[in-house]
Amino acid sequence: IKAKKPIYSGKAKSIYEVDEDKVLIEFRDDITAGDGAKKDVKEGKGYLNALISSYLFKKLEENGIETHFLEYIEPNYMLAKKVEIIPIEVIVRNIAAGSLCRRYPFKEGERLKRPIVQFDYKNDEYHDPMLNEDIAINLGLATEEELKKMREIALKVNEVLKKVFDEVGIELVDFKIEIGRYKDRLVVADEISPDTMRLWDKSSGDILDKDVFRKDLGDVISKYREVAKRLKLI
Ligand code: C5P
Repeated sequence: IKAKKPIYSGKAKSIYEVDEDKVLIEFRDDITAGDGAKKDVKEGKGYLNALISSYLFKKLEENGIETHFLEYIEPNYMLAKKVEIIPIEVIVRNIAAGSLCRRYPFKEGERLKRPIVQFDYKNDEYHDPMLNEDIAINLGLATEEELKKMREIALKVNEVLKKVFDEVGIELVDFKIEIGRYKDRLVVADEISPDTMRLWDKSSGDILDKDVFRKDLGDVISKYREVAKRLKLI
């Protein structure tokens, strides 16, 4: 694959244009937390996240959810449809953790009565504030119809991912997805990896995601490797 020009470089991924319809996504070893305030480089992270993301996108596709995924390219690349990302972080929560417990009186680890779908504005300057429908529409981020569809997609993705992880003894606590416009459709884009999910081992309660880095709980790569092993990817 001849990737032409870099069109974007974020905190952990770089995107290269392949042609007008395709991009090559490079998963780098960079790891950040707290809006980039905490940074490090962890060898093997790019590989593991590309591998895990590719597998999960394939699972979504198998379950009738369209994604940007086209092909995994060893070791740390993904070929994807070029989409127009909607600047909204779509978060789904099954168990209370993280910012939900900082902002509201939920107890960490509490199972939610029903999943929470939360839309945050992807905007570093404003620190990703939570949106409601009226704010999102007034900011011109998405239409009412798109927001409704995004909520439906998020809940469907939750059902598929919950099952995938349940089968390998992992609890899907919460996750974030990004959604893009592709032709006349909305597709799941960006990445789905231990960087963007909270995953707890069902039997030991062990944390298998980026919280290990955020909270200095040990070797984050060994946790990501454990996720890939459970999913039988390595
Ligand atoms: O921090 P918070 O509890 O709101 O995060 C909810 C979920 O969304 C977590 O799985 C976290 O990893 C993910 N997330 C993300 N990128 C962000 C914010 C949250 O992947 N910028």
